[in-house]
Amino acid sequence: MTKVLINEKLVDEQEANVPYNDRGYVFGDGIYEYVRIYDNHIFTARPHFERLLRSAKEIGLDLKYSVEGLIELVQELINANGIVNGGVYIQVTRGAAPRDHAFPTPSVEANVMAFTKNYGRPYKELEEGINAVTTEDIRWLRCDIKSLNLLGNVLAKELAVKYNAKEAIQHRGDIVTEGSSSNVYAIKDGEIYTHPVNNYILNGITRKVIKHIAEEQNIPFNEETFTLDFLKNADEVIVSSTSIEVMPVVKLNGESVGDGKVGAITKKLQEGFTRYIDTVSGEFQENGQKI
Ligand code: PDD
Repeated sequence: MTKVLINEKLVDEQEANVPYNDRGYVFGDGIYEYVRIYDNHIFTARPHFERLLRSAKEIGLDLKYSVEGLIELVQELINANGIVNGGVYIQVTRGAAPRDHAFPTPSVEANVMAFTKNYGRPYKELEEGINAVTTEDIRWLRCDIKSLNLLGNVLAKELAVKYNAKEAIQHRGDIVTEGSSSNVYAIKDGEIYTHPVNNYILNGITRKVIKHIAEEQNIPFNEETFTLDFLKNADEVIVSSTSIEVMPVVKLNGESVGDGKVGAITKKLQEGFTRYIDTVSGEFQENGQKI
């Protein structure tokens, strides 16, 4: 029987219910993470759970867990469901309380929920690339918080689906921000360009790994804003996330990106990423810390 984690308990999927007045359900008042499992291990676990704690802090949600505590809880769920390759979705809401926009007083216990998914790496798409469309970024101004409020992202992704594409790349006016569920990179004349880390994008963990690989391979990694025109004229385009890794975009709004094939720099980053997975978070250090 598949288990779901509800507030530290592993319960059968059928019994995993949400209270009708949970603030996540009513207001989208909560945060989440999505982690990848390779070979029964949580990939880059620390930075994901550090980001969860940061998101909680940014919305004033008091979360009683440490990074280690969260890793332990999630690993128990992974083991219970026997997941070798897949992912875990984990969300925390401000808890259940009578509907009122202001935070409940006195505060109520946060509700923590996590479930697993079983799947392998997207080899075919990594090799062939995907199609993407571009769309105006209509989201709020704290995209650095991994909040449950995803309506802007959901509408963007649905637009992609409508045009038979896999991702929607968003732009605020002329400036490319990020995908509906990914970070975006334009590669031009051997250099990588990606939106700087600020409130307009999520500070992707895959982005951190890509930056590390680029530095290792002496590929310039420019954290600078770039325009929609620059994206359209790029030699290569990539989108990245925990689930899609280093994903080439070979068509943008129906037009070929560069020569329409997966480019050389993209391939180098993909190879570096695979090597990195194989070390299972072994070698990579950020600020002296293993990630
Ligand atoms: N989303 N930007 C947005 C808006 C995202 O939703 C995601 C990931 C990313 C990439 O972040 P990371 O590399 O840490 O996964 C960037 C996850 C996969 C999701 O919502 O399921």
